[in-house]
Amino acid sequence: MSVVAIAGFLLLLYCSMHIPEKHSAAGTTIFTVMSAMAQQHNAINLSQGFPDFHIDERLSDALGQAAAGGFNQYAPMAGLPALKRQIAESFKRRYNVTVDPDTEVTITPGATYAIYTAFTAILSPGDEVIVLEPAYDSYIPNIEMNGAKAVVVSLQAPSFTVDWQQVRDAITPKTKAIIVNTPHNPTGAIWTKQDWDELAAAVRGTEIFILSDEVYEQLLFDGEQHYSVLQHEELRPRSFALYSFGKVYNNTGWKMGYCIAPPALTTAFRRIHQFLCFTVNTPAQYALASHLANDTEAISAVMQRKRDYFLELMRDTPFTIHQPAKGSYFQLASYERINDMPDMEFAEWLTKEYGVATIPVSAFYKSGKDDRLIRFCFAKKEETLNAAVERLMKIS
Ligand SMILES: Cc1ncc(COP(=O)(O)O)c(C=O)c1O
Repeated sequence: MSVVAIAGFLLLLYCSMHIPEKHSAAGTTIFTVMSAMAQQHNAINLSQGFPDFHIDERLSDALGQAAAGGFNQYAPMAGLPALKRQIAESFKRRYNVTVDPDTEVTITPGATYAIYTAFTAILSPGDEVIVLEPAYDSYIPNIEMNGAKAVVVSLQAPSFTVDWQQVRDAITPKTKAIIVNTPHNPTGAIWTKQDWDELAAAVRGTEIFILSDEVYEQLLFDGEQHYSVLQHEELRPRSFALYSFGKVYNNTGWKMGYCIAPPALTTAFRRIHQFLCFTVNTPAQYALASHLANDTEAISAVMQRKRDYFLELMRDTPFTIHQPAKGSYFQLASYERINDMPDMEFAEWLTKEYGVATIPVSAFYKSGKDDRLIRFCFAKKEETLNAAVERLMKIS
């Protein structure tokens, strides 16, 4: 057989090999798509959720010192003891909750990983998980990768509150977990203690787990307080609480996070974690441990100034803000006074014609539900926000 014939045969073989789809999400995530489009059209990128300003110098210095100091080999599987201890102390200080660093805290490469790991620890094929939409776009693929099914319940626009009757109606004997997120991406809504009480009542008497995505826990505005699932005595024994250092210290590229869960759930979590990544970047863990020990900055105050600045600028544009974000670093805006394009089309048009990239909110719905809203990320330098809004003011 000639070389060409063998190559042809192999090509045919590879093409006919079955590669399972693993999840139902189409193509690449919207964050990658919009960031790439921003680059292609030289647009100001207010789409993906990351700051464009420098991190605290003490933190970058600590990272360099850890690497130069020789802390470059594998850290313990569950995380560096000093970092886990600092996390426990921080939760005691800020929420007055007691967390055992040894049996309840696991350091992870970001929150997205922690969410996947928690799902993998508890889900079996055929299980159902309730997801409140719009939702961060990894939840549903992560559920499906585990052979389970996402059951979606829509939040109520424009305030994006939970319709608890709909949640109760969505619970079946197959419901294994409910994933919640406060402060909420993409809407900036936050949960009150009453929401947690409603959730507790809904799952009382069941074996449903809670995944509580609290990555924006330190970004709340107008004097609002974050209420963590860890503070809820009834829910805590069945909950995985997931956090991201990237959202707190503006270093999303470090991809560092953690999971706090009761000992039995943490054991199940680590059972998976040890064979997914085993352990997490050692110098970054040292740097974060020393930073947490000295951390005094009010992170929400910095972001509140950015939110207020952005809202003030947006008054001069044709966008409508139905509700200022109460938390997170995202602001939804309606373009009802501009045109009535579907939101994906609108976001593309805005990027290409006016040079500002945003995220269409329909991307956060499995069904593609389109409320004609786009999401801006305001975690940017003032000069970036000024330049973006200057462009938005030109929209006729
Ligand atoms: C709601 C929510 N959860 C999790 C994450 C991911 O956090 P990490 O970068 O630590 O994986 C994000 C990031 O945008 C988010 O918005």
